Amino acid sequence: MNQPNENEKYAPVGVFDSGVGGLTVAREIMRQLPQERIVYFGDTARVPYGSKSRETIVRYSRQIIQFLESKGVKAIVVACNTASAFALETIRPEMKMPIIGVVKPGAKVAAEITGNGRIGVIGTEGTVGSQIYTEMIHRHNPKASVLGKACPLFVPLVEEGWLKDPITVEVAKRYLAYFKESDIDTLILGCTHYPLLRTMIREIMGENVNLVNPAYETAQGLKRLLMEHGISNDGKVSREPMYQFYVSDAAEKFKNFANSILPCEIEEAQLIHIEE
Ligand code: DGL
Repeated sequence: MNQPNENEKYAPVGVFDSGVGGLTVAREIMRQLPQERIVYFGDTARVPYGSKSRETIVRYSRQIIQFLESKGVKAIVVACNTASAFALETIRPEMKMPIIGVVKPGAKVAAEITGNGRIGVIGTEGTVGSQIYTEMIHRHNPKASVLGKACPLFVPLVEEGWLKDPITVEVAKRYLAYFKESDIDTLILGCTHYPLLRTMIREIMGENVNLVNPAYETAQGLKRLLMEHGISNDGKVSREPMYQFYVSDAAEKFKNFANSILPCEIEEAQLIHIEE
């Protein structure tokens, strides 16, 4: 591990996602690590990632990390489940700075808290098809049975703002019926958007199923990672701005969504051309 220089701890954390979904992760970082600055990039021009190939997601992730590095970040959070599933292990050896994804922290907690060893995972087609959650859960609990279900309609429904709409309830009931019959006691919300449907999922699954929110666990993991590397912001020096947001398209729409879920008001999201 490189010795950090004194100023490194005051640098921001780089957080990226395919679009607005990773704001659920940024929100947890803001709550749990309020002294940390954030540079967020949402790839709103190329969303969704969930139906794209591994090669494409690796290419996109490399471009975004390069952009975040140009902003002087001290660590990277891959806030997208699909990018964590497809790109993280390929990219990690190329990186000098610490990097964390959302899959491992959520998988670890699920493996630890399951009582009957039966864990459900919901996510995009890419995340569920990659079997990454199964692999990570088995590292901690080799005997666990892991059942995955892709729920592709949840992302557009959340982006439409239909968080409590009867149509979303109907869609959720249909997707989750698979788990109702399979005796799981833990369900991982393995996509950035799903924590926003938590109340509805809780009502459908009942009180006896643990719901794991990888966004929450990732913020916890980031806290540990920054401490291990000696680069946690001690809050003594506050450099403005605390939070910066960049997107590859539809900046106004992004800003409105951000302001509906973040604990702070954001004034602007800057548009950049990520492919240049
Ligand atoms: N952010 C993505 C994820 O967590 C969901 C949206 C997309 O498909 O790009 O997998």
